[in-house]
Amino acid sequence: MSKLEIFLESLHHKYQSLNSGKLASYIPQLTKASPNWFAISVVTTDGKVFEVGDSNENFTIQSISKVFLYGMALEDCGREALLEKVGVEPTGDPFDSVIRLDENSKRPDNPMVNAGAIATTSLIKGSEPTERLNRMLEIFSRYLNRDVFIDVSVFMSEKATGHRNRALANLLLNFGTINDNIEEILDLYFQQCSLVVNCHDLAVMAATLANRGIQPMTKQQVVQPDYVRDILSVMYTCGMYNYAGEWAYRVGIPAKSGVSGGIIGVIPERAGIAVFSPLIDERGNSVRGLRVFEDLSQEFGFHLLDVSMGKCHFLDCLDSK
Ligand code: DON
Repeated sequence: MSKLEIFLESLHHKYQSLNSGKLASYIPQLTKASPNWFAISVVTTDGKVFEVGDSNENFTIQSISKVFLYGMALEDCGREALLEKVGVEPTGDPFDSVIRLDENSKRPDNPMVNAGAIATTSLIKGSEPTERLNRMLEIFSRYLNRDVFIDVSVFMSEKATGHRNRALANLLLNFGTINDNIEEILDLYFQQCSLVVNCHDLAVMAATLANRGIQPMTKQQVVQPDYVRDILSVMYTCGMYNYAGEWAYRVGIPAKSGVSGGIIGVIPERAGIAVFSPLIDERGNSVRGLRVFEDLSQEFGFHLLDVSMGKCHFLDCLDSK
């Protein structure tokens, strides 16, 4: 076994019994997850796969989708036009906060919090809802190299209970950031969150970003390299919500979490990493996921400032001894 595989096994063993945190319950369907599910997947930019645990267990992508919709919106609108609608400033507030939107008047702070993500999703091009949905599914299937689908019961559950997101959308309409087809915009936002993935898929998506937008298995360019820089920048500063500063300090890589328990991390030029474990903390981040990433960063020198100081020795740990 390679040093990486041995280390992944040891992390899985070490944190399997860490049971703090809770299942997300504000979307009722998410309480159906098992608190025991736990997977770690690493996919290198040249397509090697290392994984341990429940890496084939399906779950909904939730907020991790925001990263990839931001990529689509950048391609649909261009950087400057998108910046006029959605900023790139970390909030230090919870992901579903309404406060910053008030303070900031027209522009939500960044595309990773709900207000900014809803505004971003509203910019996806297409003449009608089905075309926009199909375009989104098409992009996700290019990232994953397979057909993709939406978990309809999670989508319906979120649509029925998403009053706070509906309130955010109404505020955005009030500021003139989005137009008045609020229910269509929210449907697409809830559908993107309800995309079914597994931990392996998430690592492949992260590896695509690590590989300048080229999917490591198909070698297809899925998102323009110029925009990968923009995506990784907002992941780095805003991807972990009101834990983003501490994450940048402790782990030091672009990342994104979702309330179903996934976290992706991108090591540019090297690999994509995903951890899945549904017990989340009060900020919406997977408890085991945070610990696993911290240990991985420490062990292999993933922190981007360690990489620049030559301390990253990840590539030496992939071959079996
Ligand atoms: O907007 C929502 O509530 C969800 N669909 C997405 C939330 C989410 O994953 C936030 N992340 N931690």
